[in-house]
Amino acid sequence: MNNKILVTGGAGYIGSHTCVALHQAGYDIVVYDNLSNSSYEAVNRVSALIGQPIEFIEGDIRNAGLLREVFDKHRFFGVIHFAGLKAVGESVARPLIYYDNNVSGTINLLNVMEEYSVSNLIFSSSATVYGDPETLPINETSPRSCTNPYGQSKLTVEHILGDLAVSNDKWNLITLRYFNPVGAHPSGQIGEDPNDIPNNLMPYISQVAAGKLTKLSIFGNDYSTVDGTGVRDFIHVTDLAQGHVAALSYLKKQSSPVGFLPVNLGTGKGTSVLELVSAFIETTKQSIPYKFAARREGDIASCYASADKAKKLFGWKAKLSITDMCQDTWRWQSMNPNGYKSISEYKI
Ligand code: NAD
Ligand code: UD1
Repeated sequence: MNNKILVTGGAGYIGSHTCVALHQAGYDIVVYDNLSNSSYEAVNRVSALIGQPIEFIEGDIRNAGLLREVFDKHRFFGVIHFAGLKAVGESVARPLIYYDNNVSGTINLLNVMEEYSVSNLIFSSSATVYGDPETLPINETSPRSCTNPYGQSKLTVEHILGDLAVSNDKWNLITLRYFNPVGAHPSGQIGEDPNDIPNNLMPYISQVAAGKLTKLSIFGNDYSTVDGTGVRDFIHVTDLAQGHVAALSYLKKQSSPVGFLPVNLGTGKGTSVLELVSAFIETTKQSIPYKFAARREGDIASCYASADKAKKLFGWKAKLSITDMCQDTWRWQSMNPNGYKSISEYKI
């Protein structure tokens, strides 16, 4: 049985955790990443965690020549495609770079997969493709719409994958729509390492707890939610990683192609910003000074998944709690105050 998986973006936050889970599930992995938003140290740490070296290629998914060399060398069962840019604000400022990386890069990868008759893909999509949902929880048939170039790039790739599946029924194109991944590996060895001041809530909270940032601004306390603050479906990154393993196992069991298959990866439970802050304080015994600020442009009130399809098809369900998410985030932050950077390299 061919168990070899190409992991694009495997040095990144979700990719590195998924590499550990894949190895534990018996897969051979080859990581392909241009390190534009990650560090080689993450690959080293994954190697240490799994107890063996990882084959790593520093390369861009837009480089067809290099991808071909990799496909010449290895016969892959499939590709898990994490590589892409993900900062919403930056995507508004630099849309061409986002469309080039996320859309052209994916087209390039699909072309090479087609050349080499590799038809199994797991693509990292996002709950952002649902825009401002009309009904909650959000299921996979909910309408899709996006308001920023990052979201549009994910939605465009989803459309491309849909068209590809119609064009030829050999394809298995599982599109995982992640809700809000947080947390870190329980070892404290790998975790989320934002380059700059974090945009996302959990890394911001943990840097306030560590004293690197002075105060959290809570964007909006007048939403129509349990306490006026935004509600999200936070999911532990190791549960998310297991979701990829479950999706691969599902693919391996199919006797006919699945085409374009979108599946939510969330817990199904909404947690408000204030509830997350309280849980973090209670779990870690750190103080988190905060103030209420204006709503952030583009934010929605509430977003949480229906996780039924993943359970039904993959037999997968998120297991870890908000307490686990806070505990593991704080362990990673405490053990790696400067992320993967050495102290001398670190600047803020
Ligand atoms: P990340 O930035 O930590 O990881 C992405 C990796 O891709 C990085 O290692 C980066 O160096 C690499 N990369 C970027 N462009 C590349 C290119 N052109 N060629 C090769 N490598 C490239 O991000 P993440 O949080 O691990 O997210 C992984 C995927 O999941 C992304 O596609 C992201 O859009 C998607 N996603 C993330 C979230 C989230 O909250 N983290 C939510 C929904 C979807
Ligand atoms: C954001 C992106 C989304 C992307 C996801 C993962 C936007 C509008 N959406 O989702 O497209 O897929 O990240 O990268 O950027 N919050 C604060 N203070 C902060 C940071 C966040 O109050 O300093 C609040 C937000 O207003 C929101 C919640 O925390 O209510 C979660 O925010 P965040 O972690 O940025 O995730 P999303 O906005 O859900």
